[in-house]
Amino acid sequence: MPDTPVTVMGDPDQLVQVFDNLVENGLKYGRAGGKVSVSFAAIAHEPVLRGPAVAITVADQGEGISSEHLPRLTERFYRVDTHRSREQGGTGLGLAIVKHIVNRHRGRLKIESEKGVGSRFTVILPDPRATGRGAEPKG
Ligand SMILES: Nc1ncnc2c1ncn2[C@@H]1O[C@H](COP(=O)(O)OP(=O)(O)OP(=O)(O)O)[C@@H](O)[C@H]1O
Ligand SMILES: [Mg+2]
Repeated sequence: MPDTPVTVMGDPDQLVQVFDNLVENGLKYGRAGGKVSVSFAAIAHEPVLRGPAVAITVADQGEGISSEHLPRLTERFYRVDTHRSREQGGTGLGLAIVKHIVNRHRGRLKIESEKGVGSRFTVILPDPRATGRGAEPKG
């Protein structure tokens, strides 16, 4: 955690849903007995959002995801290992919902993964203190 409190603007229920999904995935696809960590960082200038931002990372120590799957991971119903995923339950909608909500908050979702090491899902949201307005999700 940074020294100063982290503040984001947005729909509280939807943001809870984002981190519910990411932490659930971390527990489901992480290593048995491994750790799932949640960390926060303030970014002075986020190049894609073109301004200050807050980054929240959910990281696990699971077997990771091969790079060819990463671009499709947030598609509805997309699952890497259909057999295993079916056994573990779920519908393949979690990350599609995460992506949708993050976009509505004018943020971005960054996915990094290394086979055998683990996966990191980072939600980057505009820092409301920068503009005094925040994300103003529509709809
Ligand atoms: N932390 C992770 N480590 C490894 N693979 C992951 C991780 N998170 C997601 N995946 C892969 O991405 C797929 C899509 O994830 P998503 O959360 O959208 O669906 P799900 O977890 O299968 O089902 P649901 O979230 O709807 O219960 C998963 O089936 C899994 O193959
Ligand atoms: Mg899921």
